[in-house]
Amino acid sequence: MRRWRSGPWGGTTHADDDRPGRGSLQYHSADDGDPRPDRPRAARRGAGALPGAGALPGAGARLAPAKGTPGEAPSTTAPVDAPERAPARAARLRPARRPLRVAVLGAGTVGRPVIEALLAQSTRLTDHDGAPLELVGVAVRDLDGARAAGIPEDLLTDAPAHLVADPGTDLVVELIGGDEPARTLIVAALTAGKAVVTANKHVIAHHGPDLERLARASGAPLRFEAAVGGGIPILGPLAADLAANEISRVRGIVNGTTNFILTEMATAGRDYAAALAEAQAAGYAEADPSGDVEGFDARNKLVILARLAFGVWLEPRSVVRRGIVGIDAADLRRAAAEGYAIRLVARAEGTPEGVAAAVEPCAVPLDSPLGRTDGVLNRIEIEGRPVGRVAFEGPGAGGAATSSAVLGDCLAVARGAGSTWAGLPPAGWAEAVAAPTSAGCFADRYPILEP
Ligand code: HSE
Repeated sequence: MRRWRSGPWGGTTHADDDRPGRGSLQYHSADDGDPRPDRPRAARRGAGALPGAGALPGAGARLAPAKGTPGEAPSTTAPVDAPERAPARAARLRPARRPLRVAVLGAGTVGRPVIEALLAQSTRLTDHDGAPLELVGVAVRDLDGARAAGIPEDLLTDAPAHLVADPGTDLVVELIGGDEPARTLIVAALTAGKAVVTANKHVIAHHGPDLERLARASGAPLRFEAAVGGGIPILGPLAADLAANEISRVRGIVNGTTNFILTEMATAGRDYAAALAEAQAAGYAEADPSGDVEGFDARNKLVILARLAFGVWLEPRSVVRRGIVGIDAADLRRAAAEGYAIRLVARAEGTPEGVAAAVEPCAVPLDSPLGRTDGVLNRIEIEGRPVGRVAFEGPGAGGAATSSAVLGDCLAVARGAGSTWAGLPPAGWAEAVAAPTSAGCFADRYPILEP
């Protein structure tokens, strides 16, 4: 276990810590001659030498060997290789890169698979056009639980603030969730010029403008693809690939837990409590599932989507919000008899007055793409000019799917990509103006959405 002089979980001041806590990011340095005497012991020794390293896949392997010979320059006169030799030669010619030293905060539903992947060091994470990712620390609340889960002892600490401030940390992956201490830890990392990857939709939706200002000022990237849509790549395409479009509407199913519950109730005749319990057991639900079933989680995700689609951070409280609490099987049966599925839909539309936004249970045609989006699946539809409608669908919750988005963001940082909003102008707070329009109302409660 890594020991600092003090450091309760969530401790955020370092009055007793004389280390500067400022890391310089060198994502693309080909000069790897620096022996880095400040490098944490765990990283120098490698996880494989450590007690408790056996249970995680790949934990016995040395972390992150850099490809190629340090300092080796690509040859400009290399002969053309035979095709079968070309990949090996290409790897040898790639200049060595200083690893990007990653600290993971939280080892829960999403943290565990992220940590396992970083320890396993698959070629997907090491053999790419960026700095290799090197796991140098894991901050957890429950040290015994983390040891029992097989996380190598020398990576572990219960002092996340110290891990963030450690000069041996370049990239902070925040997977604690909730407001504090996550927000303060993200602020500390960005202030120190360290890159941050997070799945924390609450923090991004509620503190977006401050974090954006801070990240832009410090030059440290802040990426949060995993905050919306679980494993679906939606924020990157919305911010970058669709950047030339004037977006008129964003709508979708963005909460896997509630979609799972509604699907189970409608198709398997389960009752609400049993379906929720199964969603919790599968790792879909928030620690406090009222965040899911009352629509707070979907509202946070809508705020984030609207930031990238419309260029404003919607004040969360200004967004109309109704959850799925109170929907009973009779509602779902009646809707099905009339050709509708009930789905919790997050919607935002550009209007002359501002952005209209709402999260509420809606009636959608059973045979429409939203009506056919079942279980933990999410689906997000974007409409804009000139593209028309594009849709993104896939697993919206769960550790495995969400770890894909987190690791993708880590690789993006390692390649030198900027923040998730990179290329878009800065945005500040705005109030949502109203709920978007609908094509009528089913049972006086559920706005009817066209396919
Ligand atoms: N509780 C969330 C959901 C997790 O069910 O969608 C993914 O953000």
